[in-house]
Amino acid sequence: MTHAIELRYGELAETECCLSCGSAVQRAEIRPGQVCVDLGSGRGSDVLRMAESVGPNGHAYGLDITEAMLEKARKTAARLGVTNVSFIRSALEKLELPDQTADWITSNCVLNHAEDKARVWREIARVLKHGGRFVVSDIYAVEEIPAEYRDDPEAIAECWAGAVTRREYLLHVLRAGLLDVQILEESAPYEKGKARVVSFTITGQRPDRCSCY
Ligand SMILES: C[S@@+](CC[C@H](N)C(=O)[O-])C[C@H]1O[C@@H](n2cnc3c(N)ncnc32)[C@H](O)[C@@H]1O
Repeated sequence: MTHAIELRYGELAETECCLSCGSAVQRAEIRPGQVCVDLGSGRGSDVLRMAESVGPNGHAYGLDITEAMLEKARKTAARLGVTNVSFIRSALEKLELPDQTADWITSNCVLNHAEDKARVWREIARVLKHGGRFVVSDIYAVEEIPAEYRDDPEAIAECWAGAVTRREYLLHVLRAGLLDVQILEESAPYEKGKARVVSFTITGQRPDRCSCY
């Protein structure tokens, strides 16, 4: 994690401002008893929503790198008496969960921050159960982000300079072995920082185990 991410999201933890860029959790068809994971869970509102959907026999995990965000989420869950949730400090590139944990993985406006996006998608595939699904809202760049901004930690923390093109984004997803990839929503291009970006929500699945004959 860069210092810039910690600084930006540490300050935002106690605010009400919207940090999302799509409807990932609303699109997940979560059922009672399932296990769900939200990556970059922030103040925890999507995790609490998932906890309600999975009910007492299920569990919702929120993973985030910023301690202030995790603290805020834990306090809200405790205040509301929600017990089927866990908030865990974890980087996107090394998810602190065992293989085949999740029926659903969601994420909202987070993966653009990741330094190694190919690795993040491999981690998503690892943590999903066979047949488990992901729904991710994020941004992509209309054109490649110029080299002068691509490695700028502050510009990455501002949710634009870490964006990759749509083609590169989808290649990472497919190369991780995830299938049935569909784009559920896609905005018109808009200016963010020094880039033109698009917000979108994608879904897909870790394949079921193969039957061998
Ligand atoms: C734009 S906010 C979105 C928060 C939440 N998903 C929402 O929709 O309100 C991005 C979140 O991702 C977290 N984050 C950024 N980079 C991360 C990384 N490399 N690993 C884990 N979490 C990260 C930040 O701490 C922050 O809470």
